[in-house]
Amino acid sequence: MQKINSTIDFIKTTFNNTGFIPLHEPFFQGNEKKYLNECIDSTFVSYLGKFVGQVEDLICDYTKARFSIATVSGTSALHLALISVGVKEYDEVLTQALSFVASTNAIKYCNASPIFIDSDKENLGMCPTKLKDFLEKNTTQKDGHAINKTSQKIIKACLPVHILGHPSKIEEIVNICTDFNIPVVEDSAESLGSLYKGKHTGTFGKVGVFSFNGNKTVTSGGGGIVVTNDKKIAEYIKHISTTAKKPHKWEYFHDLVGFNYRMPNLNAAVACAQLESLDYFLENKRDLAQKYESFFEKIGFSFFKEKEDCKSNYWLNALILEDRKERDLFLEELNKNSVMCRPVWTLLNKLPPFKNCQTTNLSNAQWLEDRLVNIPSSVRPKMNTL
Ligand SMILES: Cc1ncc(COP(=O)(O)O)c(C=O)c1O
Repeated sequence: MQKINSTIDFIKTTFNNTGFIPLHEPFFQGNEKKYLNECIDSTFVSYLGKFVGQVEDLICDYTKARFSIATVSGTSALHLALISVGVKEYDEVLTQALSFVASTNAIKYCNASPIFIDSDKENLGMCPTKLKDFLEKNTTQKDGHAINKTSQKIIKACLPVHILGHPSKIEEIVNICTDFNIPVVEDSAESLGSLYKGKHTGTFGKVGVFSFNGNKTVTSGGGGIVVTNDKKIAEYIKHISTTAKKPHKWEYFHDLVGFNYRMPNLNAAVACAQLESLDYFLENKRDLAQKYESFFEKIGFSFFKEKEDCKSNYWLNALILEDRKERDLFLEELNKNSVMCRPVWTLLNKLPPFKNCQTTNLSNAQWLEDRLVNIPSSVRPKMNTL
């Protein structure tokens, strides 16, 4: 109890706040209002406005991806990304049981089914060893596709997730998938600003996705973005994200069933301002992680640190507690004391819509579900960071 009480005191002091401390709140310090006013004055509030293109340019500059397409959410970006690599009805997609539900929902939107691979305890992402083992034992190759021996269905994609901003072993995952002819769609919704071996997460697979939801490092209110180096994929995604309308001065001709998934200019205006502050956000979040690390080392809680070859944005800071009992006590006490704290997500294979999906042994994911908690991680104003 002593350790939990000191944690509460430490968080209140660090955030200079004796009231409610949220898990992650957005931070608006720059040109958000200015760009929003500009956007409204222009009357271009939907996706035909200059800020949409600007967000895309900023993300390409930042991640070094060749192309990007801004969308209404990270989930819609995932949906488009999966379609773009050919995922459709009856296909299967390898993903993780330990993730936010959006990644698996996007697979279901394609009428495809997830196969849940276990996590890597070291970085919280997909475990490359378990992935390789599953593919070696459970698939054959036919017409350039990996076929699942159990279901006889095509495994059309692999959707690994960089969890809480920590890069997974993405190079290894992509190499394994390449050997089995499976394209990788990287769910980097949580990892804007996180690098693996110096390269931006989201840019290792065929397509990557980021989220600009209100709880993310950079927000546009709601929004997301797809990144890729493949010109054809980029053009296809842009086309289907805007109702698949063929460009013409006045004709309405749609050659596919498209979506209304493109980011509105109003949201893009906020995203542009936020992206101008990204370096500040990252510095601030990494400073907070450092403070947590030294504090928890002193009191004897295990703080989840970035791993070798990785630079994490520390989107949500995490502790790995002793067991589920300690986890529940920790959650109870912090939340009771107005310090928002939550467990990692319930494993997706336990949720009703996914309970009959195929899984590997999920012992690592279960181990993490029993122990991992997230603690307040917002960017703090400069005066609080002294
Ligand atoms: C891992 C992961 N994937 C996808 C999403 C979906 O993003 P959005 O909320 O922008 O739809 C989120 C976040 O919300 C996420 O954490």
